[in-house]
Amino acid sequence: MTREQLDGITLPKHIGIIMDGNGRWATKRGLERSEGHKAGAEVFRKICDYAADIGIECMTFYAFSTENWRRPPKEVAAIMKIFRSFLKEAKDREKENEARGLQFHLIGERQGLPADIVKNIDTLEKDSADKKVMQVNLAINYGGRDEIVHSVRKIAEKVKKGELNPADISEDTVSSFLFTAGQPDPDLIIRPSGEYRLSNFMIWQSAYSEFWFDDILWPDFTTDDLDRAILDYCSRHRRFGGV
Ligand code: IPE
Ligand code: IPE
Ligand code: MG
Repeated sequence: MTREQLDGITLPKHIGIIMDGNGRWATKRGLERSEGHKAGAEVFRKICDYAADIGIECMTFYAFSTENWRRPPKEVAAIMKIFRSFLKEAKDREKENEARGLQFHLIGERQGLPADIVKNIDTLEKDSADKKVMQVNLAINYGGRDEIVHSVRKIAEKVKKGELNPADISEDTVSSFLFTAGQPDPDLIIRPSGEYRLSNFMIWQSAYSEFWFDDILWPDFTTDDLDRAILDYCSRHRRFGGV
C-alpha cells in the first residue's frame, strides 16, 4: 500500500484471517499436505510483518481449530512441528519482532496442546507483553463455540460464588471472558481458498464484521491481496443496525 493510499483511508483496527487452502495448494503441486502448511507459515510471517508496518493494531491468524484434531495424526504432527519451528524462530527473531512492536497472544485452549508448545507460547506472550504496535492473536486449538463455553463457565463460577447477579450479565460480561477480552471485535475477516464459511472462527466477535472471501489459496496470498481486502473493506458502509 502506498503512503498516499494509506493517508486516504481509515484502516480496520482488527483483521482476522482464516488461513485456509494449504492442503489444496500442496496437492495441486503433487506435494505432501504438510508442504502446504510450511508454505502457509511463511506467508503468515510476511503478512504479519506487513500488517504491522502499515499500521494495523490487531491481527488474528486462525492456524488450528478445535476441529482440526480430526485430521490424520501424521498431518496434525506436521502442523505441531511447524508451530514449534515458528516458536523457535520467534525466539531467534526476538529483536526484530521487538523492533516491530509485535505483542503475541494465544487465543485457544491451552489444554490439549503439547506441553512444550504451551510453555513456549507462554514465554512468547510474557516476553512481548509490553509491545504496543500490533497485537498478534495466534488462534491455535481455537473454536468459537469452545470459547463461548469457556466464558459461560467463568461466569457461572462467579454467580456460584455470589460475586455476580445473573440479572447483571451483559454482552460485555460474556466478551470479558472470551480469549479476546479487551480487544476490539474484528472489523474485517478474510477467508481465502474459496470457502464461504467461518468454520467456528470468532462467532461471537464477528456479529458486525465485514467479510472478504477470495479463491486464492493461503500459500499464494500476498501483501497485494491484503491491500485488496483492506481497500474493499474501506469502500463498504457499516451500519451496525442503524441507517
Ligand atoms: C488450513 O489449510 C490449515 C489448517 C486448517 C491447519 P487446510 O489444511 O485446511 O487446506 P485445505 O482446505 O485442505 O486446502
Ligand atoms: C478452518 O479451516 C481452520 C483453519 C484455517 C485453521 P478448515 O479447513 O479446518 O475448515 P473447513 O473444515 O473447511 O470448514
Ligand atoms: Mg481447509
